[in-house]
Amino acid sequence: HNRSPRNFGKLDDADKTIEGFNPLCGDKLILYLKIEDQKIDDISFDGSGCAISVASASLMTDAMKGKSLTEAETLFNEFHTLITTDDDVDTEQLGKLAALAGVKDYPARVKCASLCWHTLHSAIQGDDTPVSTE
Ligand code: FES
Repeated sequence: HNRSPRNFGKLDDADKTIEGFNPLCGDKLILYLKIEDQKIDDISFDGSGCAISVASASLMTDAMKGKSLTEAETLFNEFHTLITTDDDVDTEQLGKLAALAGVKDYPARVKCASLCWHTLHSAIQGDDTPVSTE
């Protein structure tokens, strides 16, 4: 997912664009969303980031296509729990995203993996201000 990320590049007919930024390393991500009837019709991302942030955005965008905004928020919460706590999560629901569970042991890496997720969460909440991990 890092070497050949899915859904990479600008989405021309996006109706929402939001930026995510990790000031610690300077990595930046732009998320494009096309939302119809409270559903993520299409999603893509652009920008530059480390291997973990690119792989995470690739996996996230793949998982989010076709999801309702409510399902997207549920998945955000599950993923956040997975990478920040030892609590049980529904790994079946998370599917391939569960591969990122290991970042939990590396606090700086949690920010890499969650950058795109916080950006999406903010976009769904209707907040257009750039998201920062700090
Ligand atoms: Fe910058 Fe990972 S090192 S997001």
